[in-house]
Amino acid sequence: MMSWTAAMSVGVPELDEDHKKLVGAINALSANAGGADRTTAVRQCLMRLRRYAEFHFAREERVMAACGYPEASGHKEEHTGFIAYVQEVTREFDDDPEDFAAEKAEELLEFLRNWLAHHILIVDMQYRPFAEHNAKARQVAREFKSAEVWWSV
Ligand SMILES: [Fe+2]
Repeated sequence: MMSWTAAMSVGVPELDEDHKKLVGAINALSANAGGADRTTAVRQCLMRLRRYAEFHFAREERVMAACGYPEASGHKEEHTGFIAYVQEVTREFDDDPEDFAAEKAEELLEFLRNWLAHHILIVDMQYRPFAEHNAKARQVAREFKSAEVWWSV
C-alpha cells in the first residue's frame, strides 16, 4: 500500500487531490489484483485512469499554462504517453478481460507505481515553484471538476 505524503505536494491543492485519488486507484487495484474480483478491479482501475487523464491532465496543463511554466510541452508529451498506454491496455483488457486480469494486472500496477515515482515525484514537482502561491494557477485549477467527481465512476 502506498500513501500520499506532503513530499508529493505540487503546491496546488486541487492537483494534490487528483494525485491522492491516483494513489487510491493504485491501492485499490493492488489490494484486489490477486483476488476473485480481480477482473472488476482492473475494469474499475482502467475507468479511473481514463477519467484521471481526462480531468487531471487537463487541469494540470491549464495550471502550467497559467503560471507560464516553460517546460510545459515536454511535460504534456508524458501525459500523451500515459493516455496512449491506457488506451492500449484498455484494448487488451476488452479483448479478454478475465485473461488480462489474470496475466497483466501486475504489469499495469508496475506501470502505475513507476508513473508515481517518475512523473509525479520528479516531472510534476518541477512546476511547483511556478505554480505554488500563484493566484491565476489556483483559479484555473478550480475550474475543472473536482477529484471526487472523476473518482466516483
Ligand atoms: Fe503531470
